[in-house]
Amino acid sequence: MEQDKPSPPITEKSLFYWVFKDNLKLQLILLVIIVLIVFARVVPLEMQKRIINDSIALRNIDGLFLYGAIYIIAITTASGLKLAINYLQAVIGERAMTAMRKELYHHILSLSLGFFRTTQPGMVVSSLMTELSTAGTFAGMAFAVPLTNILTLLAFTGYLLWLNPKLAGATLLIYPFVVFIIPILQKRANKANKQRVDLSRTTSSQIAESISGINEIQVHGAYSQEGRKFDNLAEKLKKIRIRWSLFRFGIKTANNYFVGLGPFVVFIFGGYLVMHGELALGAMVAFLSAQEKLFDPWKELIEFYQTYQDASVRYTRTMSYFDSVPEFSLERVETFDRSLTGQLEVNNLSYDTTDGHRLLNGISFSLAAGEHLAVVGYSGGGKSTLIKSIGKMFNYTAGSIQFNGRELSTLPKNVIIQNIGFVSQHPFIFTGSIEENLLYAYRAATEAAVAPPTEEMKIDLDRMILVLQQVGLFVDVMRFGLDSFITPDEESTIEKIIRIRHRFRKRFGDKLADYVEFYNQDDYHVNSSVAENILFGTSINNEFGYHLLPDNAHFRSFLQSVDLLKPLSSLGIELASQAVDILAGVGTVDLFFKNSPVPADRLEECETILIRLKKQSFSSLSPQNQSFILSLALNFTPSIHTMSRLPMELKESILSARKVFPQWCQSIAPDLFTFYCETSYIHGQSILNNIFFGRIKPGRPQAQEIINQSIMHLLVEEDYLEKIAAFGMHFQVGTMGDRLSGGQRQKLAIARVLIKQPKIILMDEATSALDNKSQARIQRLMTTRWKGKRTVIAAVHRLDIIGTFDKVAVMKAGKLVEFGTYQKLIEQKGILHELIYGRR
Ligand SMILES: Nc1ncnc2c1ncn2[C@@H]1O[C@H](COP(=O)(O)OP(=O)(O)OP(=O)(O)O)[C@@H](O)[C@H]1O
Ligand SMILES: [Mg+2]
Repeated sequence: MEQDKPSPPITEKSLFYWVFKDNLKLQLILLVIIVLIVFARVVPLEMQKRIINDSIALRNIDGLFLYGAIYIIAITTASGLKLAINYLQAVIGERAMTAMRKELYHHILSLSLGFFRTTQPGMVVSSLMTELSTAGTFAGMAFAVPLTNILTLLAFTGYLLWLNPKLAGATLLIYPFVVFIIPILQKRANKANKQRVDLSRTTSSQIAESISGINEIQVHGAYSQEGRKFDNLAEKLKKIRIRWSLFRFGIKTANNYFVGLGPFVVFIFGGYLVMHGELALGAMVAFLSAQEKLFDPWKELIEFYQTYQDASVRYTRTMSYFDSVPEFSLERVETFDRSLTGQLEVNNLSYDTTDGHRLLNGISFSLAAGEHLAVVGYSGGGKSTLIKSIGKMFNYTAGSIQFNGRELSTLPKNVIIQNIGFVSQHPFIFTGSIEENLLYAYRAATEAAVAPPTEEMKIDLDRMILVLQQVGLFVDVMRFGLDSFITPDEESTIEKIIRIRHRFRKRFGDKLADYVEFYNQDDYHVNSSVAENILFGTSINNEFGYHLLPDNAHFRSFLQSVDLLKPLSSLGIELASQAVDILAGVGTVDLFFKNSPVPADRLEECETILIRLKKQSFSSLSPQNQSFILSLALNFTPSIHTMSRLPMELKESILSARKVFPQWCQSIAPDLFTFYCETSYIHGQSILNNIFFGRIKPGRPQAQEIINQSIMHLLVEEDYLEKIAAFGMHFQVGTMGDRLSGGQRQKLAIARVLIKQPKIILMDEATSALDNKSQARIQRLMTTRWKGKRTVIAAVHRLDIIGTFDKVAVMKAGKLVEFGTYQKLIEQKGILHELIYGRR
């Protein structure tokens, strides 16, 4: 029998594992470069001495140039090598960190559901993204930095000893003090750092929780409650970080202090030697400058030590937090295993939580392949727990669950994934397209086996559409498709849609005449505003958005050039004064303003402007006032603003302006607009609008429905339904499926399970968010298509739908209290009877 034993987790690996994992070659290259750089760093020191002693003192010009040349080559090489070292360090660091992150993340995903009851998303984010980054930096440094600096130190120390052993010995005496004191301080810094890591994790999880619950916070107005929780944590974090920083800087200060004592020792001890004639003054000065060279490598070494400590604390703290063994092995199975037929035997099944609560207690029942079981009972009775156990979401503690005689606990998780479809009580929809979500479970199931999917398992657009129809999501997907936009490079699609547009007008033009005003180049459109009638197109540039037109200088100059500015201003004034005449004094009752070109909140402004116009001309009004009046005229839509009329001669002028507008546009910026022309596609508008190519008349609530139906009808005739559905599949569902309704999300969750054609379907309140019609559709699907073919176990609250199930299981307090056919249980007048008809 297959064993389902997971391998040991990566959390047990030491920090140094990552330093060398896959990086051995790079580390060796680094080693070679380091040896070279140490050499390149010592050479200038010797050259410096030779230039002074041998060349300058002996007036040896050739020597000066030779040593000078070697000097410059050495420091140039050293700089180049330093760059190479930094680069390699960065590469190794990033590789190590990425490997760490990836492996830890994969590990976390496979941890038991019990683990996630106490671990929140924020904790995982902070651990993976923040805490591990220092470990990565360390991995890059781990080999190179100590090695470079220790070698450099050794080289310089050797050089000092060679210069003057006595003086060198005296200065080096300082270092043991430093080596003693720093670890003491570091220990305290580490303690603070550990607390900081834990607290950061808690704070991150607090932030993540609040943001995920932002709906609840805003709806209850619980801003300060949530704010306080965060403030507390932030304050604590501040204190710990300050303490941590204090120790870190303490280490730096102590180090600088002791190392700073070096020259002091040289002055005192060297001075003493000079006075006693044991050392030349020049030699002491040379020693002083050579001794200073020790500072840099030493400082780097101490910084490295600190980074190591920091990384080690963060790493072990993070890894130990996730150090838990996954419940199941996720090893891929060799071939596609679809052998489970759905024959199920549950025997004396019990499940205890880790803290000792018994959630399922001695449950036994059996189902034949293809039978349907409804699990009912009081809330908290254990229905979800039972279904999750059967779906191998966690390991049951006692008893057995057997599919075709094979014990569930020994069946690899990946076999279960290939055979069982699970729709959970609160399905989660992922950010991405409908299609990605639809194929989510299918992809996982096919990836669960090493072998490619069998012919029977392959899916295409037809199959996806079929499933969407089965769950009742197809109409929604079509709507998403019709509402989508296409890019100008999809030429064949554009051509086809324009053809469909013509067919649509021919087929449905008369039928829809009452509801729709179709676009026509030569007509004035009473359902569109004056501005829309002039432009007769849409702009891809925001500057030419309709609401900005009154302020757009280009557009005003166009109106001027076609002699429209003045008549439109007069129209604006006329509209304002009519509105004031009719509506002044009615307050802000919406009903009265429904047909007014002036919105209620701007009526007062109209009055003021009209008073001004009695004394001054329109052109002497303020620019804001002029724009406002112009905007009234440009927004004026005769069919909506029935309070006023559009003068006949103005209509004519607008139509002639429309004719010249495209040419004028050409001179401003070509391609700024797409004009409504029967033979061209309107970019920036949906496919639906492009097919329909017109305006719905106001006050026709059922118009949209009729148009949609007609378009669907036509798409079927044109054999273009699938193409539009394919566009709809690309609809982005938003964060966690936020752009879908609750019912749509549930339908998608059912569809993504059906698409992998599982023999066993587990549903936990899978239809609770559906309306009656959609519920009935799923019900019909179950009885007509699945009976005898797929085993279904469904937890259901709505007891009116359980009559169609072969068996009913009644759960109460973790026990199976009744099991049998619906008929039998009702006749028996037990708990199911009580659940349905109430207590007698
Ligand atoms: N991890 C857990 N630790 C302790 N108790 C738990 C845990 N998970 C669930 N429970 C408890 O187990 C019981 C059964 O829960 P379950 O979700 O199975 O009920 P249910 O029958 O599906 O209820 P509902 O109809 O409300 O969905 C409940 O009392 C719940 O409090
Ligand atoms: Mg439940």
